[in-house]
Amino acid sequence: MKRDQLPTPALVLDLERFNNALFSMAELAAKAGKKLRPHAKTHKSSAIAARQLRAGNCAGICAAKLGEAEVLLKKGIENVLLTSPVAAPARIKRLAELKRAYPGLWITADNVENLRALNECGVQFDVLADVNPRMGRTGVEFKDAPAFVKEIMALPNLNFRGIQCYAGNLQHVTSAQERGAATLEVMKEAAALVRELRKDGLPCEILTGTGTGTAAFDVEIPELTDIQVGSYCMMDTEYFNIEGVGSAFPCALTCLSTVVSCNQKEFVTIDAGLKALYFTPHAPPCKAADGLPEPGWSYDWFGDEHGKLFCPAEKRPALGEVVELTLPHCDPTINLHDVIYLCSGDEVIEELPIDLRGKFL
Ligand SMILES: Cc1ncc(COP(=O)(O)O)c(C=O)c1O
Repeated sequence: MKRDQLPTPALVLDLERFNNALFSMAELAAKAGKKLRPHAKTHKSSAIAARQLRAGNCAGICAAKLGEAEVLLKKGIENVLLTSPVAAPARIKRLAELKRAYPGLWITADNVENLRALNECGVQFDVLADVNPRMGRTGVEFKDAPAFVKEIMALPNLNFRGIQCYAGNLQHVTSAQERGAATLEVMKEAAALVRELRKDGLPCEILTGTGTGTAAFDVEIPELTDIQVGSYCMMDTEYFNIEGVGSAFPCALTCLSTVVSCNQKEFVTIDAGLKALYFTPHAPPCKAADGLPEPGWSYDWFGDEHGKLFCPAEKRPALGEVVELTLPHCDPTINLHDVIYLCSGDEVIEELPIDLRGKFL
């Protein structure tokens, strides 16, 4: 099938840009002696996770939520790190059942009560201590981390594996210089923690973290073992505008949309609105050409089902014409769709189910 015969709005993934992204990130990691642990929260597809693993040099795949980890493991992804803590009793029970069935599941924790609840499940958990990179979302403070690790070590059903430090607050700092300086400050603190734990005889084999925005800097940290990059293989307008990121990773994932009305002088109306593109106030998507936003084209929100597309008069698309948009924010946009169409040039070559869609419980 040809791409522009797809029913729209449709998410399309350009095979060449996707493969280039996998290759570039794998090369960045390998040159620094690191592994990849790609984050499936971005694409929410076990088929895409399997492609990332096949590309090589991976320690495993990350999941943000228990529901995502369940699907990944059941679909044959063997090593899954759950990067968010699981706290509610009913979910801890589900987590324990999952671990019993799939030993390759690793988890993160940041609370002593939570450690005790996990320990009581009667299953051996592999645990990373999550540290707070001064963002405050999750994680123990650096100063409290050695005592927290000792708590993990003291509980018979918990195996301490290492440290997670993910500075989500720094990924979108626009200036490369400022982003680099800020992330290295945090990751150096994480590295010092790893050295301290090892000096105390605590077996800290892993330091994992990083995202698409800071990976190129963080790989300089010798103690870092693997990088949890997510957006790099899909990309969006928010990331595209970050210095050094858009040039390295053009938008592989775009949204096809059809012109459904062209009665207005200033814009045409297309069939991609809030139900097809996740809303962001400051980063509307633009027409994509070769994965790069095209100057002179812009999108504006026009309700649930529609968008306004502004473009130069001489390039105005006709009624029924299919246009291509970069995404405002890839992760929550993907979560609105059932399928990503993998395309080589104009040809649709595979349907990739977004089988982690809605699995946020
Ligand atoms: C814990 C964790 N690791 C890695 C990532 C991947 O980040 P990015 O999409 O910036 O590459 C995220 C994204 O939010 C995350 O929450």
